[in-house]
Order: sequence, then structure tokens, then C-alpha cells
Amino acid sequence: MPESPLPAPGSPLPIIIDTDPGIDDCLALLLALNSPELDVRGISVSYGNAVVENAYRNAVEIVRKVKHPVRVPLGIGARRPLKRPLQVADDTHGPSGLGYADVPPAGVILDYARTLERLLEAQAEPVTLVTLGPLTSLALVLRANPGLVREKVGRHVAMIGNIEAAGNTTRFSEFNAWCDPEALATVLAAEIPTEMIGLDVTRKIVIRSSEVNRLAEQSPWLHDALRFYVEFHKKQEGLDGAIINDVLAIAYLIQPDVLTFSDLRLSVSLDDGQSRGRTKLDPKGSLTRVAMEVHPAPVRRLLFERVLPAGALVEEAMA
Ligand code: BDR
Ligand code: CA
Repeated sequence: MPESPLPAPGSPLPIIIDTDPGIDDCLALLLALNSPELDVRGISVSYGNAVVENAYRNAVEIVRKVKHPVRVPLGIGARRPLKRPLQVADDTHGPSGLGYADVPPAGVILDYARTLERLLEAQAEPVTLVTLGPLTSLALVLRANPGLVREKVGRHVAMIGNIEAAGNTTRFSEFNAWCDPEALATVLAAEIPTEMIGLDVTRKIVIRSSEVNRLAEQSPWLHDALRFYVEFHKKQEGLDGAIINDVLAIAYLIQPDVLTFSDLRLSVSLDDGQSRGRTKLDPKGSLTRVAMEVHPAPVRRLLFERVLPAGALVEEAMA
């Protein structure tokens, strides 16, 4: 197992992000790309919230929105789950994957686009892999080239799963785990150093509808993406705002003390129906670090300072 990739003091943490943008993925990517503490070495795009063609087009648009232009290699990860039929979350994120935000038509993805495997191979030293979608891309690399993952993934931080919190896709299951439970089982079985950031903590990271409304003039594109997300959460959960799950995984890398972890043995249900993708405590399961407590205020502050300044209340910006 490689050493945990702690950067030299003052140097940014090298990361690769596997993502399925996605409205909360969009905020997470913008936070990562606007944060000097992180060195985003590559973005691998997967199906999940949208089909991969849309998700890739969305990633390109998101990278274009970064204030200080960045050159970041984009790769194509998984196009469908390992075994299950492809299903996307257009109810949650809209048909494009970015709510009402204006995006160009999706193009065809050429087969020679770089994969997560190529992005990892290109790294001179171990990186932190952050997964913000289904784990299919990582499972495919683990199956094809496990040595590469052990050599280049020093640490894996995943927005996935839930232990005590209610599911968001079935009563029991979280969306990324539900999409491809076999991929999650592959990753758990490999016992790479995975840190799971699931609904137990991400459900507490909420952007209020009043904060989204304040974006209308200065950040109309993000406002258009987020107001769809707020409408969905109103219908689905009766919430006056939106849960921005993926932001927490990035904020944690910038400010690690926002989360407290427990070392737990976990497995994932490969059944169908309500249990599909349920992550549960299991004495025979894989040892995993699971985030069980969160301080939401610093996470929100990072987001409002670095991505959504127009949405912040003056009192909050000063807090
Ligand atoms: C996860 O599923 C997706 O809808 C979000 O982007 C997030 O990654 C939350 O369950
Ligand atoms: Ca996501």
C-alpha cells in the first residue's frame, strides 16, 4: 500500500476527481478548481446523474466557468453500470444533468478519449482519488489493473452510501451506491484506503432557497442549475433548499476537521428492490472509514467564499 499522499507543507494536494455532473458535482468541481490547497490533476467523467455524453459536455462547461482559466485533463470513465441497466437521475438533475442551466448539445464521445486508468498512469506519485458518482470507473480499473490502483491511489475519498440516514433513491439506499452496487462491492473487497462520505453527513449540507434566489443577478448560470435542484428537493423531501452532497467531499480535503470518522466494517446489498445498494454494518464486511459527524458551517463558508459569493448573506460572509 503506498504511503498516504500528504503534500509537503504549503504544496497543494494532488487529486483526481471521478464525477457525473450533476448539479452538486458542478459546485464540488468549481470549489476544487477554485481552491489553492488542491491540485486537480484530472477529471474523469462517468454516467450517473446523466448519460456520459451529457456529463462530459457538462464537465467541459463547468471547467470553462472557472474564473482563472485552468488546463485540466478530462477523461471518460464508465458509460454504464457493471451489470445493471443504465438509469440516470433526470428527475433530480434535469434532462441535461444541470437543471435549467443553458448548455450546448452533447457531442459524440470518441473511443480514444482518456480513461481513469490513463489519468492514473500519468501520475508520477500517488494521488487522492475523489469519487462523486457511481464507482463503476474505479471498479473497472481495479478489475483490469489492480496494481495500478494500489500504486497510484494513495487514498480514496468517496461520496457514497449511508448507515443511519434515510436513503435518497430507495428507502434504504443512496444514489451512487444504488447505481452500481457490484462496483461498490468490488471497491470494498479491494480494501484500498477508502473514506466514505455518505448521506449521514451530506444531508446536513444544505443551500437554502433564499441563498439560491440571491444568485439570480450575479451568477445566472448557477442560479438556473440550482433552482431546478431546489424544485426537486421541495417535491421530494419537502425541503426549502437543496442538499449539495458532493461539495462535502471536496471541502473535507481543504479543511479535514469538518468531518469525524468511525472505522466500521461494511458491506453492500446486491439484492434488487428497496435493498439494492444499501450499505450496512456487517461484522464480515470490509474495514472502511465512514464519516459520521460533520460541522456544516465551515463547509458552507468555503462554498460561499469561493464559488457563490453572490449567494452569501452579509452576516454569514463576515462570520
Ligand atoms: C449523490 O447522487 C447524486 O445525485 C449526487 O450528485 C451525489 O453524488 C447523492 O446521493
Ligand atoms: Ca455526483
